[in-house]
Amino acid sequence: MTRRLTKSAKDSNPTELNNIFLPVSRQLQSVEELLKTWSGESSPVLKKMAKEVISNQGKLIRPGVLLLIARHLGYRGNNDITVAAAIEAIHVASLIHDDIIDGSDIRRGNKTASKSFGADFSLLLGDFFFIRSIHNIMSLKDRNLSEMITQVAQQMVEGEIEELAQSYNFSLSQAQYMKIIEKKTASLFLTSCRLACRLGKASRKEQAALEKYGLNLGLVFQIIDDLIDLVGSPLETGKSGFSDLKEGRITLPVILALKQTGPEAASQLESLLRKTKKGSEKENFSILLNILKKTGALDLTVLQAENLAAKAREAVMVLKPSPYRESLLDLVDFVIFRKG
Ligand code: FPP
Ligand code: MG
Repeated sequence: MTRRLTKSAKDSNPTELNNIFLPVSRQLQSVEELLKTWSGESSPVLKKMAKEVISNQGKLIRPGVLLLIARHLGYRGNNDITVAAAIEAIHVASLIHDDIIDGSDIRRGNKTASKSFGADFSLLLGDFFFIRSIHNIMSLKDRNLSEMITQVAQQMVEGEIEELAQSYNFSLSQAQYMKIIEKKTASLFLTSCRLACRLGKASRKEQAALEKYGLNLGLVFQIIDDLIDLVGSPLETGKSGFSDLKEGRITLPVILALKQTGPEAASQLESLLRKTKKGSEKENFSILLNILKKTGALDLTVLQAENLAAKAREAVMVLKPSPYRESLLDLVDFVIFRKG
């Protein structure tokens, strides 16, 4: 068992997240309401689909980060709601598209859009959220904000394409993996921080610290996501397990296991990973999991996530003390100890 599973003193849960976001709970509520109005303006079929996706709300971590930072920096206008909603809409769009690509049926404990509406409709639904995000950011008439949103969307596409292209590449290096997750996931966390810095007119020093925070928080988020795909309980993750293995996605635990083992064990691991392609034989997964545990790859993965989490915490300590800063710090713990 990994340290995280046996020792995790501060298991995260949604109540804890509500507490973390308490200083911006009113604004987060407005973000949710704004997102609902976007779908309300569309055609009946689109409206129905968008409503279903929005009602299956996620944790709003990225908008929460943006709001906490903007408020910490002294921003007191309303544009942070629009920008936060745009960030969430990009996130929603990317997950709808990702579920089509991954062939995933379950997310957040519910059917994915692609399962409910089919790949064709959900592809267009993803496009809708993506375009609404850009449209709403543009309505603020700040070219810098619009550029940040389009730039991050491009990075996410690049990351997702690279990940897809590297499927079943057992020689994928840790550096390549880190670049992929930086682009597909951490970039949106970093951009949430950057957008907040623009709104709150951050100093150079604050901006550098917050960018470091966003990048590292995002990397931790994805590493833990990849870990809980292997060791998490579907009841807690709301997703079906081993989806990365089934799709041949080489994640950090697998990279580290391949590095730790000799050539013989590595080729056994590779052949098991190839077999998971055809079906979801339960025994294959338990053999795989045992190899990952025996090689220490799971513990090592946690260790690497902890190192990045430490960088995120260190970065945020550059800011002056405030309840918002406390929440940003607590969020690092939430992300690293989360189970879903
Ligand atoms: C989830 O990763 C997916 C992402 C973090 C990014 C997906 C990006 C795209 C589809 C391209 C960008 C699209 C737009 C509209 C900007 P995961 O599969 O590891 O996580 P999961 O287990 O939650 O599915
Ligand atoms: Mg996925």
